[in-house]
Amino acid sequence: MSKLYDQIQDSLAFIRQKTDFEPEFGLILGTGLGDISEQIERVALIPYREIPHFPVSTVESHKGELVFGNFAGRRVVALVGRFHYYEGWSMQQVTFPIRVLKFLGIQRLLISNAAGSVNGQIEAGDLVFIRDHINLQADNPLRGENDERLGPRFPDMLKAYDRQLNAAALSIATENGIRAHEGVYLGLQGPNLETPAEYNFAHLMGADVVGMSTVPEVLVARHMDLPVWVCSIATNKCYPIEEIRETTLESVVAVAKAAGDKLALVIETLLRKTL
Ligand code: HPA
Repeated sequence: MSKLYDQIQDSLAFIRQKTDFEPEFGLILGTGLGDISEQIERVALIPYREIPHFPVSTVESHKGELVFGNFAGRRVVALVGRFHYYEGWSMQQVTFPIRVLKFLGIQRLLISNAAGSVNGQIEAGDLVFIRDHINLQADNPLRGENDERLGPRFPDMLKAYDRQLNAAALSIATENGIRAHEGVYLGLQGPNLETPAEYNFAHLMGADVVGMSTVPEVLVARHMDLPVWVCSIATNKCYPIEEIRETTLESVVAVAKAAGDKLALVIETLLRKTL
C-alpha cells in the first residue's frame, strides 16, 4: 500500500470512531468565511489536531476543525480552515483533508476562498463562481508516484468546474439581488500580495480573480473524480491598477465576513433546490 493511501485510511478510521455520520457534501470555508459553519446543525466536531496526519492550520483567520451536521436539509462536513502551501506544508499535506472527505463518502465539494479582483467589473464584496483556473503555483499535489486507487496518472481538466451549477448559482444571486459573476481563478503561491505589474499581468492572462489557495484542492478532487464548485469572494480590487489600495489581512477578512451571508444563502439554496 502507498503511504498516502495508508494515511488516509488511518484518518478515516479515527474519524469513524468519533462519528458514523455520512456526509453527502463537503464544504471548505476559506478566509473570513468560517462563521458559515455556525449555520450547520452540528452532529459532531473534531479539531484537526486530533486527527492523525492532518496538518494544523497556522493562519489566524482559519480555525482548524472538521464540523459534521445538517445544513439546508442535507448532510454536510465542513473543513473550517484550510491549509496553504505558503504556510510551509507540502502540496500533499495541503490537500490531505480533501482525500479524507472523499473517503468519508461526499458526492461533491463546495469550496470558498477570498481573492483579489483583476477584472474591472468585479468589485470588492462581489461573489465570483469559478469556471476555470490557471495554475501558477510552484508545486503540484499530484507530483510523485501515482496510486491508481486514488485516481489516474494524468487527470483531465477540460471539465474541472461545473458550469451548469454556476448558472444555477448566478440565477440564485440575481433573484436575491446579490452581485455575482462567473470567472477564472489564478492560483499563485503567495504569501505576498501581487505587485501592480503582476495584477496587470494576471488580467492580461485572462484571470478574473487571484488567490493563494483552491487550485491544489481542485486538482486533488478532480484526480478522485469528485465534482467541485468554487466561489471566490472578491475582497480587494486590483484592476485597473489606479484602483489598487494597500491590502491587509484585516481588510480581506472584514470584506469576506461581510459577504459571508450572501455566500451562505447561495450555498443553502443550491443544496435545497439544485443539488
Ligand atoms: N492576491 C492574492 N490572494 C488574495 C488577494 C490578492 O489580492 N486577496 C485575497 N486573497
